Amino acid sequence: MLQAEGVTKSFGGLVAVNDVSFSVDDEEIVGLIGPNGAGKTTLFNTITGVHPPNQGTITLDGTELTGRKPFEIAQQGVVRTFQTARTFNESTVLENVTVGAVFGDGQDPDAAEETARECLSFVGLEDQADAEVSGLNLADRKLLELARGLATDPNFMLVDEIGSGLTPAELQTLTDTLERTCHDRGISVFWIEHIMDAIMGATDRIIVLDQGQKIADGPPEEVRNDERVTEAYLGGGDE
Ligand SMILES: Nc1ncnc2c1ncn2[C@@H]1O[C@H](COP(=O)(O)OP(=O)(O)O)[C@@H](O)[C@H]1O
Ligand SMILES: [Mg+2]
Repeated sequence: MLQAEGVTKSFGGLVAVNDVSFSVDDEEIVGLIGPNGAGKTTLFNTITGVHPPNQGTITLDGTELTGRKPFEIAQQGVVRTFQTARTFNESTVLENVTVGAVFGDGQDPDAAEETARECLSFVGLEDQADAEVSGLNLADRKLLELARGLATDPNFMLVDEIGSGLTPAELQTLTDTLERTCHDRGISVFWIEHIMDAIMGATDRIIVLDQGQKIADGPPEEVRNDERVTEAYLGGGDE
C-alpha cells in the first residue's frame, strides 16, 4: 500500500501541493483528477522523488520513500509514465521495452527480450515488435510506454494523462489495458487524467485535487456528484 501523510510541496511562494494525505491499496486502481494547475503532476513528482516534499511522508508497504533518490524509489517498484510519451524514436518497439527490463529490473539481455515480448503482447503490440518507434501512432506510443513500464516488473504504476489526444476507441483500449494491469498482474495503478469521464468507469476510487488541496476522495459516482468537485471544474478549469 502507498500511503501519503500531509504532503506539501512549494515552489517559491506557490504551494503546488498543500497538506495532502491519501492511500492507494494493493491492486487498487485510483484516479487523480483536477483542473489544470491543481498539483497532480507535482504530487506524482513528490512520490517518485523528482521533487521531494517540503513536508509530509510517503511510504510504500511501510518503507519510507520520502527523501530517497528517484532511482532508489524506482528500485522499490514504483514506475511512471509521462504526460508526453517519452520513447527512443530511433530504435524498434522491442528494443524500447527491452531497455525497461535491463535497466529497470536488472535482467540479462536474453531474459530482458523475453520479458519485453511478453509485455508487448500484454498491451497488444506484439505485431509491431520490429517496427521503428517513430512510425507508431500516438495511441500505440502510449501502449509502448506502458509495456516499457511493465517490463521493469513494478508493483506500483503512476500514469500521467495518458488519455489525451486519443479517440474514444483508443482510450477504451488503453483503459482496458490499465484495468488488466491492475487486476491481472496485481499492480496498483494511480492514474492522472484531466477529464473525469475518461476514468470514471475504470477506477475503484477517485481523488480530486484543486489548487493543491484534496477536495474529494471516494467512489467515482460519489465524486462525480460532489458539489465541491463540480464547482472546482466550473470555476477553476481553463477549458
Ligand atoms: N518545477 C516547477 N517550478 C515551479 N512551479 C511549478 C513547477 N512544477 C509545477 N509548478 C506549478 O505548480 C502548480 C501545479 O502544477 P502541476 O502539478 O503541473 O499541475 P497539474 O498537473 O494538476 O496540471 C502550477 O501552478 C505550476 O505552475
Ligand atoms: Mg499535469
